[in-house]
Amino acid sequence: MSSQSPFFQAGDRVQLTDAKGKMHTITLQINNEWHTHNGWLVHNDVIGLPQGSVVETTGGLKFLAFKPLLADYVLAMPRGATIVYPKDAALILGVADVAPGLRVLEAGVGSGALTISLMRAVGKEGEVHSYEKREEFADIARKNVVNYFGELPSNWKLEVGAVQEQVHERKYDRVILDMLAPWECVEMAGEVLEPGGVFLAYVATTTQLSLTAETIKSSALFTEPESSESLIRGWHHEGLAVRPQHRMIGHTGFLIMARRLAPGVIAPARRRRPSKGSYGTSEAEA
Ligand SMILES: C[S@@+](CC[C@H](N)C(=O)[O-])C[C@H]1O[C@@H](n2cnc3c(N)ncnc32)[C@H](O)[C@@H]1O
Repeated sequence: MSSQSPFFQAGDRVQLTDAKGKMHTITLQINNEWHTHNGWLVHNDVIGLPQGSVVETTGGLKFLAFKPLLADYVLAMPRGATIVYPKDAALILGVADVAPGLRVLEAGVGSGALTISLMRAVGKEGEVHSYEKREEFADIARKNVVNYFGELPSNWKLEVGAVQEQVHERKYDRVILDMLAPWECVEMAGEVLEPGGVFLAYVATTTQLSLTAETIKSSALFTEPESSESLIRGWHHEGLAVRPQHRMIGHTGFLIMARRLAPGVIAPARRRRPSKGSYGTSEAEA
C-alpha cells in the first residue's frame, strides 16, 4: 500500500492524469524514469512533492499527480472474475457492519477486490479467511492483494476450494459471500457464525436472491433476511447546466443479509401473510 503521507515517497503508486482525463499509474523508484510519447518524467522529481502537484515530462506534457484511491486501484487491477464495484463494496461493509477486530469468512475471492475492502475494514486486529474455488482466480487475487498492501498480510488466509465443503474449526463474526449459489452455504454459515453474526450475500439476479432468501428462512437459524440494491447517479455541473449524467450503471447486484440467532432459538413467527402467488406459479399452488 502506498504510504499514508501526503507527500510522495519511493515505493508509492502515483496516478498521473493528463489534460484529457487519461490516467496512468506508476510506482516511484529512485533514479527511475517514466517515458511517454513526449519526453520522460524523472521519478526523483516527483518524490517529496505533495499530492495534487502538477508534474511535467521533459517534452512539456503535464499531469496531475495523486496516490490512487482504493476505488481507482481495484478498477485498474488485473481481473479473473468480475469484481465487486466500489459502490457495492462500500455498501457491503456498511450493511454487514464490518469493523476493526472482527473475524470474517469470505467466498469467492474472484479478483480480490472485496477482499481488500474487508482487510482494510477489519484492520490489523481483525482477520479475513477467504476461499476461492478456482486456483487461477486465487492466484490473481493473491497478486492483487499483495500488490495493494505491499506484502502478504499476516491476518489474511486464502484457501482454494468450495467454502461449504470445508471443515471449519473456528467461529466467525461475519460471513460474506459473492458467488453463484450462496444458498448452498447457508447451513455452513449457520454453523460457523457466532450468535448475532452477520450473513451477507451479494448476488446478481432476482432468482439467486429468492433462493437465498427462502433458504435462510427455512433454515430457522437466522433473522428474517433483508435485501437491497444501490443505484448511483452521477451529476454533471457546468455553470447553470446542472443535471444528472446521461449514463449510469443500471444494475450491479443485490445484497441480502440476516443475523445469526442464538443456538436453539426460534424467532417469533412472522405475522405478515404472504401475498397471493408468492410461493407458486398457479392459483392452486399459491
Ligand atoms: C463474482 S466472483 C467474486 C469477485 C470478488 N468478490 C471480487 O470482488 O473480486 C465469484 C467467485 O466465486 C467463486 N466461487 C463460486 N462458488 C464458490 C464456492 N462455493 N466457494 C468458493 N468460491 C466460489 C468463483 O470461482 C468466482 O471466482
